[in-house]
Amino acid sequence: MKMTLSVLKADVGSIGGHTRPSERMMAAARTAVQETIDSGLLIDGFVGHTGDDICITASHTRGVNDTDVHQFAWQTFLKATAIASEYGLYGAGQDLLVDAPSGNIRGAGPAVAELEFDHDPVKTNKVRATESFMVLAADKCGPGAYNLPMFLGFADPMYCAGLMLPKMSKGFTFRIIDMDGKEGDSILELNAPEDYYQLAALLRDTERLGIESIVSRLDGEPAAAISATRLHNISGTYTGKDDPVALVRNQGIFPAPEELVSPYAKAHFVGGDARGSHVMPIMPVALNTAVTGIYCLPLVSCVGFSLSAGGYFSDTYIDFFDNPAWDVVRNRAQEKGIAMRDQGWSGAAMLPYHELEYSGFRDTVEGLLSRFSIRSS
Ligand code: 13P
Ligand code: MG
Ligand code: MG
Repeated sequence: MKMTLSVLKADVGSIGGHTRPSERMMAAARTAVQETIDSGLLIDGFVGHTGDDICITASHTRGVNDTDVHQFAWQTFLKATAIASEYGLYGAGQDLLVDAPSGNIRGAGPAVAELEFDHDPVKTNKVRATESFMVLAADKCGPGAYNLPMFLGFADPMYCAGLMLPKMSKGFTFRIIDMDGKEGDSILELNAPEDYYQLAALLRDTERLGIESIVSRLDGEPAAAISATRLHNISGTYTGKDDPVALVRNQGIFPAPEELVSPYAKAHFVGGDARGSHVMPIMPVALNTAVTGIYCLPLVSCVGFSLSAGGYFSDTYIDFFDNPAWDVVRNRAQEKGIAMRDQGWSGAAMLPYHELEYSGFRDTVEGLLSRFSIRSS
């Protein structure tokens, strides 16, 4: 059968500032997911949070961009918003940018990553004898945060030794979106390994260019989807960084989990952080971690599932970053973050003018620029 995995995530309110959603909000989201499983629309579903963002992962057979699935997610976020409003939480409904989207909710605020693929997990299936996948969710950063780790995991044998194996050596196609596109979705496809340097030339610009999806060149199987969109232009005004999600199939013809997560040991610098306007290292954390650290360091969580023949998730999930192995990286992230914060607002510590997500920063600068005048002599 054709199986669809949908990951839909939104910040609709959080406790004591932009930290995490409340237990009541999480319970409401879980109840809504269970009701939608009972109604038959979803096969299975899972709810977690990363920082202040609620993330729903669901399996179904409706295909990507399905109106009913997207509307279920929107309604679920509205229910959590009502609770956030009732209890006076910060930023109630923050990521629901339009009043009532009629069809799919892409571009309406929530982050969406979806994959559809043939699902027939039997031993004799040469492409996919079992299906396993990972869901990454990041808070306080934009979709470009995934550029480096996805590139390394899918294109660099220093991180993914599997690329040297016959099944994977044909490489992967990267679909890149220009997130500054004004007129529509502007896309370029590049192939690893032959376009390796061109990929690096584009993916270095994490604010403008993001990986939207990755496809296996062995047989065209979809490997990964990322919620990279033109969101910050569609919405017009600042509404928070895009706080992206990614859905990644692993094992077999795809990289193994360790090959996909090892690039996060870098705690690489990304745009986002306080007021969406700084540059700080991204810290791998357990699912359901609140943002409470120094200068709200960007966070990324990564959980894994197996999918049964009927489309059900395993009885539990695996939390890749909830492990002492990652403590050394978390310490490294803190040290890098403290070093960057030492230089406050200066130079590389803050994003360039056009990427300052709080438009007030730009208003301040523009107000001052308008007071400049040409010296008469
Ligand atoms: P969120 O997008 O996670 O709400 O963060 C906004 C922000 O300004 C962080 O300082
Ligand atoms: Mg928030
Ligand atoms: Mg957030």
